[in-house]
Amino acid sequence: MTATTFQFLILTSFILAPLLSVEGKIPESCKKYECPTFNVTEMGKDYEIRSYDSPVWISTSPVQDTSLVAATRKEFSRLFSYVNGYNNEKKVIKMSAPVISEVSNGNSIVVSLYVPKANQKNPPSADGIKVQRWKASYVAVRQFGGFVTDSNFMTEVAALNGSLAGTKWASKTHNGFFVAQYNAPFEVFNRVNEIWFLY
Ligand SMILES: *[C@@H]1O[C@H](CO)[C@@H](O)[C@H](O)[C@H]1NC(C)=O
Ligand SMILES: *[C@@H]1O[C@H](CO)[C@@H](O)[C@H](O)[C@H]1NC(C)=O
Repeated sequence: MTATTFQFLILTSFILAPLLSVEGKIPESCKKYECPTFNVTEMGKDYEIRSYDSPVWISTSPVQDTSLVAATRKEFSRLFSYVNGYNNEKKVIKMSAPVISEVSNGNSIVVSLYVPKANQKNPPSADGIKVQRWKASYVAVRQFGGFVTDSNFMTEVAALNGSLAGTKWASKTHNGFFVAQYNAPFEVFNRVNEIWFLY
């Protein structure tokens, strides 16, 4: 399947998808694509705490970029090739979600894609791709809609940080954060994005 066909399929399916509100919902894309499972262990004001059970990710190498949007687009194209068979086993892997961009030390960005359960044991190797296995983790989450832009995600990061002030989740110093995106670039409606702080 070409990238264009893929984008077209996603576009049409999302135009037909019912409207949904963004707060506290499992993203609509997760009905179509496998997403990591989690339990919500706490609902706070404007945030939730989730527990994830050891999700596996494929990741590209860290890049220095002042544009999160540009870095994510570029690095995701490598991950997209990987799942479409450009790996050492020529194995095609089902598209999954989300794509997460980890920002640390200001502008070092690592872009990752969730690996479906069926492939977690033995993800194929590939040049420039690393497999990351998280231990069981808590994640503080803030959802927001629309498109992620270089000018809006830091506002969301600050808002999540602010929501956590005075809770036990605030005491942890965040070395960085993640921007999780569940939709392809051409999807216009029902977009769901999340800021994650990992514990
Ligand atoms: C969610 O909770 C159930 C019941 O305690 C547990 O069996 C399951 O493994 C948990 N899932 C995750 C992803 O932590
Ligand atoms: C995050 O919130 C804490 C208060 O909990 C505050 O001291 C800190 O400056 C905030 N950090 C950022 C980057 O906004």
